[in-house]
Amino acid sequence: MVERMPLRLGVNIDHVATLRNARGGYHPDPIRAARAAVAAGAHGITAHLREDRRHIVDLDVERLMKEIAAPLNLEMAATDEMVGIAQRLTPHAVCLVPEKRAERTTEGGLDVIAGGVALRDVVKTLSAHSRVSLFVAPEVAQIEATAKAGAAVIELHTGTWCEAVIHDDEKGSLDEFKRLVAGAQLAASLGLEVHAGHGLDFETAELISTLPEIAELNIGHYMMGEAVFTGMDAVIKNMLAAMARGRARVGVPG
Ligand code: PXP
Repeated sequence: MVERMPLRLGVNIDHVATLRNARGGYHPDPIRAARAAVAAGAHGITAHLREDRRHIVDLDVERLMKEIAAPLNLEMAATDEMVGIAQRLTPHAVCLVPEKRAERTTEGGLDVIAGGVALRDVVKTLSAHSRVSLFVAPEVAQIEATAKAGAAVIELHTGTWCEAVIHDDEKGSLDEFKRLVAGAQLAASLGLEVHAGHGLDFETAELISTLPEIAELNIGHYMMGEAVFTGMDAVIKNMLAAMARGRARVGVPG
């Protein structure tokens, strides 16, 4: 029998906050969305506290810590302000991401090599209370630098691959998928726990779940969009089913 590593789903609820903030009020409440996602089977919640607080705000993170029993993965930039917040709140996991004010979403992976000693210090500080992950593109040098920086986890950026799939770019999507396969293998061989995320939908989540090294997917925008049509419960269950179909293909020839 093939031994398959369990695969967790972390649900990113940022865009429930985006919708709430559009009217400046309290509805829809991202913590209610988190509760519904966990009730439907999500294994964890992800939220990105951006420097400009464009979606998730500080109070959301505090409430996620207090009101939601499932582990919180706090995405943030490696700034003094964010490190202070993470030290005070001690979420289960912290995922360090690059952040540019003008971008619509996290566009590229973290440049771990350029981060050097300063980034290594942040990883060390945060590792005292959280599992620290670095969000990187599937590039050999960045993956090796992630292991050297002392992170326990790497989250491979699937955004470029997902964009190529959406635009029916066959060669681009195949090349990028190969980079993800090799990246996941290299990261696991260096002792990193491997996560993946950005831009995933039902189809790409099923495909990426065929990579045996991957332990967790973090998915937000597509699922929150789908929840408008089918509801939170259905979208989480459909995503878990897609991931299970992918994982069932691990070790199956062809
Ligand atoms: N993982 C990381 C590190 C991210 O920055 C994001 C976007 O906030 C996601 C996963 C989720 O991406 P998406 O919303 O496109 O599913």
